[in-house]
Amino acid sequence: MLRRLHNEQPASFAFTPANRKWAEAQLTKFPEGRQASGIIPLLWRAQEQEGWLSRPAIEHVADMLGMDYIRALEVATFYFMFQLQPVGKIAHFQICGTTSCMICGAEDLIAVCKEEIAEHPHQISENGLFSWEEVECLGACTNAPMMQVGKDYYEDLTADKFRELLKEFAEGKVPTPGPQNGRFAAEPLGGPTTLKDKSGEAANGSVALALALGDTVKRIDGTEVPLRTPWLGGPVKAESKPKAKPAPKPKTEPVAEKEGTKPELLTEARGGKPDDLKKIKGVGPKLEKELNKAGVYHFDQIASWTDAEVAWADQHLVSFKGRVSRDNWVAQAITLAKG
Ligand code: FES
Repeated sequence: MLRRLHNEQPASFAFTPANRKWAEAQLTKFPEGRQASGIIPLLWRAQEQEGWLSRPAIEHVADMLGMDYIRALEVATFYFMFQLQPVGKIAHFQICGTTSCMICGAEDLIAVCKEEIAEHPHQISENGLFSWEEVECLGACTNAPMMQVGKDYYEDLTADKFRELLKEFAEGKVPTPGPQNGRFAAEPLGGPTTLKDKSGEAANGSVALALALGDTVKRIDGTEVPLRTPWLGGPVKAESKPKAKPAPKPKTEPVAEKEGTKPELLTEARGGKPDDLKKIKGVGPKLEKELNKAGVYHFDQIASWTDAEVAWADQHLVSFKGRVSRDNWVAQAITLAKG
């Protein structure tokens, strides 16, 4: 499988403060000089934060671990759990196409992907919500055919069931992961022959937790406390934020509610003199062009954005989602606007 870095890359990457704290805690697991052992969890966290792994993200992790970039790139390009290109806004579906799944109907699932999402793997659907790919055996062969979404498995699928799941994801819900045919786990289709009293979500710890966190399709920013660091004697506290966020609910909000409000945009720079937006941390020449094209030319425009407008800008203005709030453009722009 040919795995290359995407041809369009964001100018930079940084962990959110809480994710950074989490990542630093991970490194305490390893003896001095062996920090490179943390490459997989840190790359995965970066992907959970952004949805995919950009080159700046891989290099950022390499810097944290004191590794040569090429070593980190080798890891990121080797494992197909790492997405090297932007993925659908809600979910990226990894359909297992190996023997058991193929025999049990993986090709039907891939036909649904082509019909409902996009003709080609890694192509984002027209509405921007989904993308898909075929992957090798995911180790759930007794529950074939199956797929992975984020960190969860959806198993014992049929084409119709997959269509129903797609509908639920599109509505902003997190469907119950695990077998989709009534099985509790990988017991015989005719029912369990041992441990007969264990059944249902309540007894299935991983399903219950997946539903409680709703993180199958969530972007993880580190506010999902407690972040567990039992080897340090307890949970790591995430950065305190000015406004407390409610604990994650089992069901995510509909996407439309997160869209925010479109700020006022200009058709051209006032007096033909745009500000040098590259002075904002994280904005490079490419991003500046994107902003100008969208109608953002001046620091005072950004400085005046409300929280709702920042939410909109996070979703629509830049190809690297979440950057506006993450790098606190408004605060930077207020300072820059004062000269
Ligand atoms: S063949 Fe699909 S999970 Fe193993």
